[in-house]
Amino acid sequence: FTPMADQDSNDDVADNFAFAFDIDGVLVRGGKPIPEAIEAMKVLNGENEYGIKVPYIFLTNGGGKSESERCADLSQQLELEVSEGQFICGHTPMRELSSRYSGSVLVVGGEGEKCRQVAETYGFRDVITPGDILKANASTAPFRKLTPAELSASRDLLSRPGVGKLSDIVIEAVFVFADSRDWASDLQIILDIAQSKGGRLETRSETFDEGPPIFFSHNDVLWSAAHEHVRLGMGALRKIVETVFEETTGGKKLTTYAFGKPQVGTFEFAERLLQKWRAEKHGLVAGRGEKRGVGTVYFVGDTPESDIRGTNAMDEKSGREGTEWYSILVKTGVYQEGTEPRFKPRKLVGNVLDAVNHGIRREM
Ligand code: G3P
Ligand code: MG
Repeated sequence: FTPMADQDSNDDVADNFAFAFDIDGVLVRGGKPIPEAIEAMKVLNGENEYGIKVPYIFLTNGGGKSESERCADLSQQLELEVSEGQFICGHTPMRELSSRYSGSVLVVGGEGEKCRQVAETYGFRDVITPGDILKANASTAPFRKLTPAELSASRDLLSRPGVGKLSDIVIEAVFVFADSRDWASDLQIILDIAQSKGGRLETRSETFDEGPPIFFSHNDVLWSAAHEHVRLGMGALRKIVETVFEETTGGKKLTTYAFGKPQVGTFEFAERLLQKWRAEKHGLVAGRGEKRGVGTVYFVGDTPESDIRGTNAMDEKSGREGTEWYSILVKTGVYQEGTEPRFKPRKLVGNVLDAVNHGIRREM
């Protein structure tokens, strides 16, 4: 380890290791910070016995808001400034699909119009929501009544030029950006599209193999929120969509796609972001020090199936020459003490502060 002078201060900065954090169940639970998280961030920012700063980024499967809004929330929760340059959420990589699907897409999940707005800032040109479809045809989901606010926010699909009926609209892809706020009606609408003739609304395929692709921003069946027990997440909705599709089509299989952890592509995206962040914030260039890449990335997570599985897979893929990805599992979220995690971390610790201390001690 050779400490480097930081870009914007006189502190030394670690040049061959860094941290990446999961958010829910590690730093935050039910919107409130996990107590040790604030201290852990201070340690990384130089309040440690070596007086060094350690670069770090955040990698959450959560979403539902723009990256800048999520960073503002996290800054407040952790009492420090979190920049967009060190943040990736579940739907961040969906940005890259906006040029491929430049027609109409369905965006599902999140509060009110938030996900539509995020999708539009990602470059999607025509973002339709389940609310728009329900506004055009309330019988789509018999038990779902849009509130007056939802009705006025939803767009009038039928008053578009050239659109006389819903079947004039073709959905090119479905994106589940964030957790559904009404599983029943969202499930109905996703399945209607999956079983349509090539994505054309209100049509039914005879073969059930011509629906548009369906993307989920992650695959977490469970996650850690305010309740003492884990809660159902987007991965559960994904399973329901696939199971009910099969059940209602005489056994046809539906293939859907998930972003987020544990996909190795998500970790590769994170490594590129970390490299950029280290350069911009700390003036560090990859390849400095003894190890290649960014040395060691300590990934701190609470969910073996996404955090630990993904980190270990990334480490294996990087091989001996690339960045070492070192998984640390905490006990403050999905993983329950005393149980056997399905994917084994390099280190099991109590909380995020223990994780930070473990990583720093292993390096120094
Ligand atoms: O919906 C969010 C949740 O599934 C996981 O968030 O921060 O633990 O990856 P996180
Ligand atoms: Mg988590």
